[in-house]
Amino acid sequence: MKALICHAFGPIDQLRVEDMPDLVPGPGEVVLRVRAAGVNFPDALIVQNLYQFKPTPPFSPGGESAGEVLAVGEGVTRFKVGDAAIALTIWGGFAEQVRVREDQLFALPEGMPFEVAGALLLTYGTCLHALRDRANLQAGQTVLVLGAAGGIGTATIELAKAMGARVIAAASTAEKLDLCRRLGADECINYREQNLRDELKRLTGGQGVDVVMDPVGGDLAEQALRSMAWRGRYLVVGFTDGQIPRLPLNLVLLKGCAIVGVFWGDFIRREPAAAAQDLHDLVAMYRDKRIHPLISGRYTLQDAPQAIAALAERRAQGKLIVLP
Ligand SMILES: NC(=O)c1ccc[n+]([C@@H]2O[C@H](COP(=O)([O-])OP(=O)(O)OC[C@H]3O[C@@H](n4cnc5c(N)ncnc54)[C@H](OP(=O)(O)O)[C@@H]3O)[C@@H](O)[C@H]2O)c1
Repeated sequence: MKALICHAFGPIDQLRVEDMPDLVPGPGEVVLRVRAAGVNFPDALIVQNLYQFKPTPPFSPGGESAGEVLAVGEGVTRFKVGDAAIALTIWGGFAEQVRVREDQLFALPEGMPFEVAGALLLTYGTCLHALRDRANLQAGQTVLVLGAAGGIGTATIELAKAMGARVIAAASTAEKLDLCRRLGADECINYREQNLRDELKRLTGGQGVDVVMDPVGGDLAEQALRSMAWRGRYLVVGFTDGQIPRLPLNLVLLKGCAIVGVFWGDFIRREPAAAAQDLHDLVAMYRDKRIHPLISGRYTLQDAPQAIAALAERRAQGKLIVLP
């Protein structure tokens, strides 16, 4: 089988497609024939040894994928050869085959194309857990989304709108904000050209925002925290800016607000029943056409490094996928 291989941590352009032996499942494991694999920011981090999970090279990046079961190991009970499934593996997905533990595998919902299935769970799963479970978002409340045209950003816009919230999308270019508007954002702020705090004050009549979704970090974080409403919830999701912000805690006291961590990977491991309910709800929302994952680019395995680089270099919009 062919796989995109990282031989040593380093630049994304060192990744190469190579012929590898076919995978064999161990006890409790399943091998999936990958049809589509979503590209996420952690793919760029993991090959550069900048992510919290550190596989031993050689390995393939690619944290989420969808395809058919090729082989099952001893003791596997929920899947059989030929079943369509979604794998959440943190790495290994940018390959023709991926080996997963049975508990990392979810049955592919009937009627869901592989492309959607391979690009849905990581971002929409994170955002549903963040907005509903961690922020207790209510209809009528206001959500600020930073990096709003990215994978996490676009999923947040759709889910927050589906939950009845007012969405303020913030991003770095007019083109990205056009996309946010098309996805349903009520208001847009270009944080390269406009002052985030002034605009938020104006758009909320001085009340501030109830929920901040922050996958970016850096200097935007303190501006967003200063723009929160009483009893607001600030969701810490990621640091694409590269800088982990240090925030003055007096602001949290003065606003009676909460800074809330979101770690979806551990949530699904520690609370599988709650995660399964979220998956069920996401599938229902997809079937009802309340969410429409936006796939803006499709790449071969050979071109997968270009897709990873597009995220690392801030050029991607919505989701990119690899079709091995
Ligand atoms: N906590 C969790 O459970 C969890 C789960 C999934 C993902 N994440 C994290 O969420 C973050 C977003 O992931 P994603 O897949 O949505 O990424 P993405 O599609 O690349 O979107 C990230 C956005 O960040 C903004 N950004 C600001 N500075 C940037 C920089 N220096 N380089 C690149 N982008 C920059 C960009 O928007 P503008 O150009 O408009 O600023 C970009 O659209 C990542 O840090 C990821 O690790 C966390």
